[in-house]
Amino acid sequence: MLGEGSYQANTYNLEFEGEIQRLKAQVLLSWEKEARNLKWFGLDDGMNVLEAGSGPGFFTEKLLELLPNSSITAVEIDPALQEKAVEYLHLKGGDRVNYVQASVADTGLPANSFDFAIARLLFVHLPEPVAAAREIFRILKPGGKLVIVDSDADLFWLTNPPMSVEIVREKFKQVIACRGGDLSIGRNLCRILQEAGFGSINLEAVVSHSDIIGIEAFQPLLDSGPILQMVKQGLISESEIESYLVSRDKFLAEGDRSMMSFWLMACGEKNK
Ligand SMILES: C[S@@+](CC[C@H](N)C(=O)[O-])C[C@H]1O[C@@H](n2cnc3c(N)ncnc32)[C@H](O)[C@@H]1O
Repeated sequence: MLGEGSYQANTYNLEFEGEIQRLKAQVLLSWEKEARNLKWFGLDDGMNVLEAGSGPGFFTEKLLELLPNSSITAVEIDPALQEKAVEYLHLKGGDRVNYVQASVADTGLPANSFDFAIARLLFVHLPEPVAAAREIFRILKPGGKLVIVDSDADLFWLTNPPMSVEIVREKFKQVIACRGGDLSIGRNLCRILQEAGFGSINLEAVVSHSDIIGIEAFQPLLDSGPILQMVKQGLISESEIESYLVSRDKFLAEGDRSMMSFWLMACGEKNK
């Protein structure tokens, strides 16, 4: 047990390496737009940046490129993922990445130390998101900002031809909820920030569309590994995923298919 919450990289997908590749594809899908919003929210080169739930380091890599004069503290609870990040970033990161193996709810980092914090696809998995946001509030400097990037189950994907995702989506919601997460967190992000003490709350959406970035960028996200893993764990039956798999195959066979996805980016400030 690595910690409480609904994400464990070694059991989320059928294979650990498959999960690493899925995480990479999720970063590449929308990085430019996320970077644009982060800058608009106030992220600037030279800042002391906290990345919470940094995983195998693909997003950290992008931050290092965007902010050549910043140092990044990567807080990650899972030692196997942190090891991946250290290995992946050893040439690019140098002494600009400070790895901290800890829970975001109790980082052990000194108060008032960071200019900017980012938590991407982390809060969805946390049993106590407000407590985690409070801990980040504590370690941010006055005037510092936290950006939470997550989605919401009812926003995940829109496709043409449509895919039959309803049953799988409902099951996923239940399974994540049983493990302490909340797949519908997108709609609650502003309140989480408010309850943790943040002010000047803002919310933006990042939309990715295959007509703009190409359908190939979405391909790894259609990996059925996490769904088949739920079947393997007895959490959903083969008959319940059948309509999804049939519609997914039909979608993949369609030459003229298109797909769009949505992330939400909520920003709060530790007002001076
Ligand atoms: C879905 S992954 C996202 C990884 C990365 N942020 C990204 O966008 O690709 C969630 C990450 O949060 C980490 N995590 C989960 N609970 C955590 C906690 N309480 N404290 C710190 N990290 C946590 C997981 O181990 C995993 O690396």
